[in-house]
Amino acid sequence: MSAPFDDIAAEFAFPIGRMRATIAAFQDEMRRGLAGGPSSLKMLPTYADNPTGRERGSVLALDLGGTNVRVLLAGLTGDGRAPTLDGDKFKLEPAHIVSDAEVLFGAIARFIGRFLERRGLAGPFNMGFTFSFPIRQLGIDRGELIVWTKGWSAAGVVDHDVVALLNRALAREGLERVRVVSLNNDTTGTQVARAYFDPACDAGCILGTGTNVCYRERTAAVGKPLDAYAGEAMIINMESGNFNRELPRNRFDAALDEASENPGEQWTEKMVSGKYLGELVRLVVADLAAAGRLYGGRPPALFAEPGFFTSEHVCAAKADVSAGADAVRSLLAGLGASGTGAGEAVAVRRVGWLVSARAARIAAAVLAAAISKGDPALDRPHTAAVDGSVFEKHPGFKEEMEKTFLELWPERGARIRPALTHDGSGLGAAIIAASTAR
Ligand code: BGC
Repeated sequence: MSAPFDDIAAEFAFPIGRMRATIAAFQDEMRRGLAGGPSSLKMLPTYADNPTGRERGSVLALDLGGTNVRVLLAGLTGDGRAPTLDGDKFKLEPAHIVSDAEVLFGAIARFIGRFLERRGLAGPFNMGFTFSFPIRQLGIDRGELIVWTKGWSAAGVVDHDVVALLNRALAREGLERVRVVSLNNDTTGTQVARAYFDPACDAGCILGTGTNVCYRERTAAVGKPLDAYAGEAMIINMESGNFNRELPRNRFDAALDEASENPGEQWTEKMVSGKYLGELVRLVVADLAAAGRLYGGRPPALFAEPGFFTSEHVCAAKADVSAGADAVRSLLAGLGASGTGAGEAVAVRRVGWLVSARAARIAAAVLAAAISKGDPALDRPHTAAVDGSVFEKHPGFKEEMEKTFLELWPERGARIRPALTHDGSGLGAAIIAASTAR
């Protein structure tokens, strides 16, 4: 007899043979994107490269990519000592992210003002800006939003220079003493923060609410105009969350995509990132219930509500090691899912593991593709700087990624080292700003 839910396990499998085809397709998309041709990978030039480690100064950083906004002051000594970081977290209202440029950037400028005021800092300051959305960068301090992701929709930002929008908002708040000198994506910030002390770091990855990977590429391989950029290498922001070929998609992915605010876009992100993992679990459990396999065929009304089950809930379910999944049962009861018995709780936990193991394998495939483009036989060690709640908090996520690298390269897979890098988007922005201002 097959174990329960083996059919679901088969739908969420991502075996190594299939993964090799995915990696080949991914690298094909990388090349097309670098050449400026049609591709699901935007392959965006960042005008930044790995730092030398000698960047120094007292620099501000703004980290914007979710409703939690961080403002930081970094102290960089440039002599191998760990940077100091002093930061505050601020919260955007849900209304801000769907408003317009003036409202959104006005709120952010006031956060910066409050940060300076609390510390009695006069300035002037250079600031590095981490903006974790796809930007068409035109230089280190200029870039236009291509498209909103992660459910954001503030009007008047797409196709506008976000540095100019922020500088204008700062001026409106009387904060001309803060000058935004550089713009970067969170993946780039994370890579730069780690590379500041780890020369083997040549990729940056976010596995949080959204997902994305950047990596270091030879400038000669970039077919797009790069203005006056003179460096031999440049970090490329792939916007890998939008990759859409040879993915192990199933009917649940299709349903999630159709009901999303951006159908047809961000397919990899919808299979991997924290914004969607809980929703995939909900869809599977609702389907099992509708087929009479759970809840006696009558699931609690809650299971018809998109978004009620979150990535944090999946984490908690996976962490419950009791035979009857007791904690999952009380979690679901607490959420209002009456009638949840041990059978249902165990099923929710199993589905949580299946959905997140596939996510980890896709995340590993994306990193493997990026890193092996320039080093197919893994002749060198590579650190991938990774940040984000999915990587950090999901039990077994990192281990599943490491296992995948070993399946791909049985002898050398351990040469790809995914390393948790906290605060990368804040610190990295400060390092980039310091290197720009020098
Ligand atoms: C954005 C990327 C970002 C990633 C992680 C995606 O939705 O498009 O720019 O790097 O989320 O925050």
